[in-house]
Amino acid sequence: MIRLFFSIISVCIFIHAKAQINVSNPEIESRIDQFLSKMTLEEKVGQTCQITLDAILKRDNAFAVIEPIQIDTQKLTEALVQFHIGSILNVGSHTLGLKEWKYIQDNIHSYFKEKKTNVPIIYGIDAIHGVNYTIGATLFPHEIALAASWNPELAKSFGEITAYETRASGIHWNFSPVLDLARQPLWSRFFETLGEDPYLASEMGKAIVNGYQGKDKVDAYHVAACLKHFVGYSNPQSGRDRTPAWIPEKMIAELYLPPFKAAVEQGALTLMINSGDVNGIPGHMNYNLLTKTLKEDWDFKGFTVSDWEDFDFLHSVHNTADDIYDAIIKGFNAGVDMSMVPYSPQYKTYCELMTRAVKEGKIKEERLNDAVRRILRVKLLIGLFETNRNQADNYNKFASDAHKKLAQEAALESITLLKNSNNILPLSADKKVLLAGPCSDNLIFLNGAWTHTWQGDDAKYNTAGAKNIKEAFAQKIGKDKLLFSKACELYLDKGYESSRLVNTQEFQKFAKKADVIVLALGEYPSTEKPGDIRSLNLSKEQLELAKIAYATKKPVVLLLSEARPRIIREIVDDAAAIVHTYLPGDYGADALMKLLYGEADFSGRLPFTYQKYDGQIEFYDHPRSVAKSKAGSFDAFNPQWEFGYGLSYNMPEYKSLDLDKSSIKGGALIKVSVKVVNKGKTSTKEVVQLYISDLKASMVPAGKKLCAFQKVELKAGEERTIDFIISEKSLYFADSNGKMIAEKGKFRFTVKNLSAEFSLD
Ligand code: BGC
Repeated sequence: MIRLFFSIISVCIFIHAKAQINVSNPEIESRIDQFLSKMTLEEKVGQTCQITLDAILKRDNAFAVIEPIQIDTQKLTEALVQFHIGSILNVGSHTLGLKEWKYIQDNIHSYFKEKKTNVPIIYGIDAIHGVNYTIGATLFPHEIALAASWNPELAKSFGEITAYETRASGIHWNFSPVLDLARQPLWSRFFETLGEDPYLASEMGKAIVNGYQGKDKVDAYHVAACLKHFVGYSNPQSGRDRTPAWIPEKMIAELYLPPFKAAVEQGALTLMINSGDVNGIPGHMNYNLLTKTLKEDWDFKGFTVSDWEDFDFLHSVHNTADDIYDAIIKGFNAGVDMSMVPYSPQYKTYCELMTRAVKEGKIKEERLNDAVRRILRVKLLIGLFETNRNQADNYNKFASDAHKKLAQEAALESITLLKNSNNILPLSADKKVLLAGPCSDNLIFLNGAWTHTWQGDDAKYNTAGAKNIKEAFAQKIGKDKLLFSKACELYLDKGYESSRLVNTQEFQKFAKKADVIVLALGEYPSTEKPGDIRSLNLSKEQLELAKIAYATKKPVVLLLSEARPRIIREIVDDAAAIVHTYLPGDYGADALMKLLYGEADFSGRLPFTYQKYDGQIEFYDHPRSVAKSKAGSFDAFNPQWEFGYGLSYNMPEYKSLDLDKSSIKGGALIKVSVKVVNKGKTSTKEVVQLYISDLKASMVPAGKKLCAFQKVELKAGEERTIDFIISEKSLYFADSNGKMIAEKGKFRFTVKNLSAEFSLD
């Protein structure tokens, strides 16, 4: 085969405009020159240091943070004036009110305003599904659910609203979006990703970045985005958080880098580094990725920030540095611009050792200047140097009905119908429902981790007025038609998720009176290390509860509020219907009612392969060999549900797939037209998914790859032709060195059951 190298023609199939934030503004660069010429070495070093809010809070004699929190002025002055630190992050142990956030931010900024420091602080927060650390904020579904909406416009609105409410909290920097790929279902942060496919993650990721950062400049309603965690963090071999990943260069180039590259091209201002190690190299020491790929090849102009304590981990966990001094030198020289140190007194040690390293020539002054230039650039671009910190006078749309409506819309478009036997759904509101299951009566199961607290499992912080599933059912059908018997609980036992059956006799008794049983199953909220699990199987007791329900012979609807695909093979066949809610956020239960009762049609589609077995883990873009069975036929790829799968009440039909040409030459575009018709009785949204297959190649090709998609609304009876313009970029694969190439030969497009071939000559 002849290898062809093409220049990448970027074709905007969707509405997203290209990067608009002007990151190379000569005025800003000359201001930075002036700053750099006046800054002392210590001041420069301080800019690269980030501490946690806890480090500057007042504590009692037992060293516990005093509540309500109070800033310890002495500690803050020491950090800002004596050590010149440049950044603060996080929340204490729990969510704070708008007033508390204002108090914190005004206090910190007063140092710059009153000229006690020359450079303002950049404050960062994990507002990953709405401003989840601000009381009353609009909480959206988590990223995995947003991805299931396959709707970049909704992702952009999520970004805009989250940015707005982050700014309402006085914060300018959001540690989001996560662009890691969901390719290891055991991993505790699966739900924080945009799914398993690089194209879907790129499109949705770009839209979120657009929403966060806005156009032209980060104004008073937008924030700097932070892409994380660069790169390969999501694929630990053991499944446990922050353990080694082994990923061939080919896969890094084809799968893991594209979402980051797309978001960098979109103008994302900052990027957080992978805490784990890939192919034996800790993310924080990977010069090739951080400096060569990101900063040189991609021309990234923003700054990189380490993850939590990661310089320390280079010597204390990874064993790739002799001590903290060696770790700082290795990490900083690899390309880490800011270190999330983040505790006290560790940050003082960091500042002292960095200063020493520059004095001893172990870190070149140019390297330090480059890092500081990047940090100052972002601070200037987001308006921190303005005395009012570029804050608006008021943010009266915070938690407004309009914002909540969009959060509900996002849940509505993501919740996915996986099974619906004999049209058991939609339910009729006059039917008696028996609701049971661990996730039925508490909002924590719909929000998951990163909700008011890190692990998100403290119900006392649940948003007032937001409904759990039980409350939403009661509102929908009235208390008299709702029977409730929880029957199974999820809890933590020695840090691991456990479950127990409770009072199943009551459940069985109530079942006799019910027309339909709804079981709300799922997972205990958790993330990062505390979220490590040992098996993908749904807990034994939840499976048992489903079997008890089936034995009653009443129709059973399973609701899955899961952070990752948990194995449910043995309870699928007997379920009348199965609905995946993911972690749909504060308005997820309201959206669920609309869907269950047919006020809206389902339009969510799985953004990952729903695995059928605990051991046999496969993805949708597997090569042909994965589909070959023991008996030799090609039917062995048999997940519970495929990537992209999802049912609706209307189920539009696909009528034709046409190409405007049967062959193309390098550089040319091809138009693919798909005709789809909604023969159903109501309007629906359909996700038209276009896949491409390279039929023969010099390296084993993926069976198919998603190359374009569009979510379209079709009225009852409507027929529509959707055009996709596909560039050569979609024909690329990575060679063994990670170089993206395309080869001449035959290719096939597929949409549902339709296909058409063309050749690249
Ligand atoms: C996580 C990051 C997060 C950071 C700050 C780390 O433990 O890995 O995703 O942004 O903490 O909270």
